[in-house]
Amino acid sequence: MQHKILSEISEKDFDLFRSLVKREVGIFIRQEKRKLLGLKLSRRLQDLGLSSYFDYYHYILKPEGAKELQRLVNIITIDQTSFFRGEKQFEILRKRILPEVIQRKIEKKRIRIWSSGCSTGQEPYSLAMLIYEMDNVDMSWDIKILATDANTRSLKIAYLGRYRGDQVAEVPPAYLTKYFHKESRGGEEVFRIKESLKKTLIFRRLNLLMSINQLKGPIDLILCRNVMIYFDSATKKKVTDQFYNLLGPKGCLCLGLSESLFGIDDRFALIGRAIYRKKG
Ligand SMILES: C[S@@+](CC[C@H](N)C(=O)[O-])C[C@H]1O[C@@H](n2cnc3c(N)ncnc32)[C@H](O)[C@@H]1O
Repeated sequence: MQHKILSEISEKDFDLFRSLVKREVGIFIRQEKRKLLGLKLSRRLQDLGLSSYFDYYHYILKPEGAKELQRLVNIITIDQTSFFRGEKQFEILRKRILPEVIQRKIEKKRIRIWSSGCSTGQEPYSLAMLIYEMDNVDMSWDIKILATDANTRSLKIAYLGRYRGDQVAEVPPAYLTKYFHKESRGGEEVFRIKESLKKTLIFRRLNLLMSINQLKGPIDLILCRNVMIYFDSATKKKVTDQFYNLLGPKGCLCLGLSESLFGIDDRFALIGRAIYRKKG
C-alpha cells in the first residue's frame, strides 16, 4: 500500500499518545520525538483508513482496540539489541556471577534466569550459550531462561531464533558451529539456533508494568538491560520491587551499562558494571 504523509501530529494529539504509552508500558516519549511518532503512526492510520491521529487514538481505546494497542506497543518500543551486548558485563557474568550460581546449585543442578525485555532474543540466547560453556554444566542440568517482552513482534523473532550473518557477527565462531545451523534462504546465509539450546528458553509476552505475581521464584539471575531507561523513578521502583521479591538469596540483577539503581532501591549492592546483588 502507498503511504502518503499525513499532516504533522499536533501537540495535543501527541500528548494523548504520550500519556497512553506511558500508562501502558511506562515509556516516556520525549518532546523531540513528536514528528517521529507522528510519522510512525501515520502509516498505521492510513492502513486503517483513518484520517486523523485523534480518530486513531479513540479507535485504540474502544473495547475492540486491544489488538491495536498491542500494535502501538510494537511500533513505539525500541528493539535494539545484539548477541553478547555489553561485552564487559558478559565477562563478569562468565567469570564471577555464573560460577557462583553454579556452585550454589551444584547439587540440585537447577538454574532459573529471567531476561525481562529480551527483544528479538539475542540476550537470552547469549546467556544460554555462556552457561553451557561453563565448567561443571552440561545439557543434563535443569536450566530455564524465561525470555519476556511487551513487544509481540520482537518475541516472534526471538522464538524463531533465526538471524542474518551480520547479526551474528559478535558470536564467537566456535559457538556459531556448536549452537547454530547455517542455512541458505533466498540466496542469503542465515543462522538458526539449534533446538538443544532453544529448549532452555521459555518465551512469554509480559509487560513489566503489570503485576508479575504469576511468575514463580526464586530466580537466580534477572536481566533487565536497557529496558527501564525510559521509565520514571516511581515506575523503576515498582518494577525493581517485583524483581527483589522474585530473586532468591544472593540473587543478582543486571541492568544496562548506562543504568543504575542509585536513589531507586538500596536493598541491592552494586558488585560491578551495573550488576547488583540482593543484600542480606
Ligand atoms: C532496547 S531493547 C533491550 C533488549 C536487551 N535487553 C538488550 O539490552 O540488548 C528494550 C526492550 O524492552 C522492551 N520493553 C519496553 N518496555 C517494556 C515493558 N513495560 N515491559 C516489557 N518489556 C518492555 C521493548 O519492547 C524492547 O524489546
